[in-house]
Order: sequence, then C-alpha cells, then structure tokens
Amino acid sequence: MSYCEQILERFNSALEHDKVRFAPPWMVSWAYQNKRDRRGLKYSAENPQDFYSFDGPQDLVRWFNFQADSAKPDYFPEDVMAPLVELSRTCDERILRQHGLAFDTGKYSEHVARYNAQDFLLQNFYPVPSRYAIQQVLDFGAGYGRQANLWLQKRPDVAYVGMDAIPLSYCLQHLYYSSLSRPLTDYVISPSGFAIEGAGLYHLPTWRTDLLATSSFDLVICIQVLQELSPRLLEQMLAVFQRVLKPGGALYIRDHEHWGAGHHRNVARMLSRLGFVLEFKPHVQDRRDVHGIPRLWRKPDPEVQASQKPGRRHRLLGLYQDFLASLRVR
Ligand SMILES: C[S@@+](CC[C@H](N)C(=O)[O-])C[C@H]1O[C@@H](n2cnc3c(N)ncnc32)[C@H](O)[C@@H]1O
Repeated sequence: MSYCEQILERFNSALEHDKVRFAPPWMVSWAYQNKRDRRGLKYSAENPQDFYSFDGPQDLVRWFNFQADSAKPDYFPEDVMAPLVELSRTCDERILRQHGLAFDTGKYSEHVARYNAQDFLLQNFYPVPSRYAIQQVLDFGAGYGRQANLWLQKRPDVAYVGMDAIPLSYCLQHLYYSSLSRPLTDYVISPSGFAIEGAGLYHLPTWRTDLLATSSFDLVICIQVLQELSPRLLEQMLAVFQRVLKPGGALYIRDHEHWGAGHHRNVARMLSRLGFVLEFKPHVQDRRDVHGIPRLWRKPDPEVQASQKPGRRHRLLGLYQDFLASLRVR
C-alpha cells in the first residue's frame, strides 16, 4: 500500500472510530460540493473530481488548477506583494519537485502565490498591541494547506493548526504539511496522543474541536469556506470559533459574502449576535478588486470594552446636548 493510500485509510479509520461519538454525517460533508453533485455539475478534467477520495500527489496539481480557474486581482503595493509571492513560489516548487510534479510557474505566481500573499498580508497588516500578537493560528477548511506556506516561513514560532473533514482536502493537507520540513502532529496518525503544545504544525479533523482549548487561539482563518458549509455546521463552527479565540483574538474571513453556495444565513448578523465586532472590511468590489471580500472580526476583550465605555456623566450630558440640538433643528 502506498503512503498516500495509508493516509486515506488512517483518515477513514479515525472517522469510523469517532463517528458515533463525535462525527455526525452533517459535520463531515461539504454542502456546496454535494449540491453540485446532485445537480450533476462537474469540474473540468484537470481539476479535482471526487472530494471524497484521494489519488495521491497529483491531486496537488489538480488543486492548483482549481485555484487558477479564477482571476486574483488586487490593489496592494507590488513592492510588498512581490517578496511574498516569491517566497511562496520557491517553497511550492520545492514541494512539487519532491513529489515528481510540475506546474506552470507564471500561472502559479499569478494565482496561487498571489492569493497566498494577499491573505498573509491582510491577516498581518492591521497592527495590534503586543498582548494580541499572534502565537496560535487555526486554519479551518484549509484546502490543500496553502496558508501554512507563508505562515511557517515568516512566523516559525507559531502553533499552526489545520482543520478539515473532507477526505481529499485532509489527505492533501497531510501531504503538503509533511513536505514543509517542520514537525507535524496529525490526529489521524495518532488519535490518542494528540495535543497542541508549543510551536509547530498540527492537523485535526473538524469533528474533534473538543481538542481545541478554550481561549487559546489568536487568529482563526476561514477563506472560501463558511459560505460552502451547511447552515447547521456553520452555526456550530461560529460558536466554536467564539469559544477557542482568546479575548482580543481575530477571525479572518474571506469569501463571496452573499453567494449562497451552502446556505443563505447572514454570517455578519450571526457573528454580531455572538459578540464579535467587525474591525476591518475594505470598500471594494468582489471579483473586480479582489477575489472574495476580506473581513477581520474581533472577539472583544472585556477590559478594552470597559475602558471604551463612556462614563455616566458623559452619557447624560451627551443626551442633553442631543436634545437641545433637536430643538434647534425644529
Ligand atoms: C473552496 S475550498 C477553500 C480552501 C482554502 N481555505 C483556501 O483558501 O485555499 C473549501 C474548503 O472547505 C473545506 N470544507 C468543506 N466542508 C468542510 C467541513 N465539513 N469541515 C471542514 N472543512 C470543510 C474543504 O475541504 C476545503 O478545504
């Protein structure tokens, strides 16, 4: 049995073992792809075909093609983008070589590397006080694992956790993470010994969010994921993010906000109800200025909230002055 076949088998046996206690069917399916299947829609032959199987390293090239299907416009300074694009490309070319694969360099740089650079830039570009510095990252619905490329090169001191439940994505992530020359702790390899302890690369299926400690993450990443989940899983995961983020931690979402791929829930309203506050959302047009609108939501730190609340005297004087102003308008 090849190494890749073994990974798929490990994934399937972890799922079989956990399914009654942790993994109901709605948690381990991809609502959007299921909808496409029901409608008989197919991607072209060079893209992934079946998300519930794994063919081995060549699926990485299929996933690169998948990403190259859409333009990745942006308006970010080229002198900031170029070094990140280069870093991403060098790393992935090494990984492709390692697995005896090749991919068009121009196409890679324009689509995959540029996309990686955009997200890394946006996740890090908003300055934060040092107590909110990013030490632990959760990448939910990690695709082939692309976010780990720049994060681990630029910030080798972080604990980086990839999470997914779809066999093709999970196995590709395992392959990609194992190629990043960093120690990898993967739940499906050793389910009973899984623990997140210090810097490194960790990999966990969606159904084991119980292994993520409360208030332990500084950043949760959800790129082109939330809109593709079922309403039930969406609700479940937003509550998990609220639990596992530290006060002051950030939730980075980037997608086609009101696409309706898997549900028609209003994610912004759900996040507000959970107490998140929107810190950053650029005034740009989806698919024209950027591919997917980036947003940064923050789980408020009660100390900061208390410090920003106006005092009673200030509030009353404000109300009084507003009242006087309204009389003047009439
Ligand atoms: C369009 S891809 C985006 C991948 C990645 N975030 C990126 O930006 O390249 C959607 C991702 O959501 C994941 N996903 C779908 N259903 C999921 C589920 N039930 N639990 C976790 N991840 C899921 C897929 O496996 C895939 O990795």
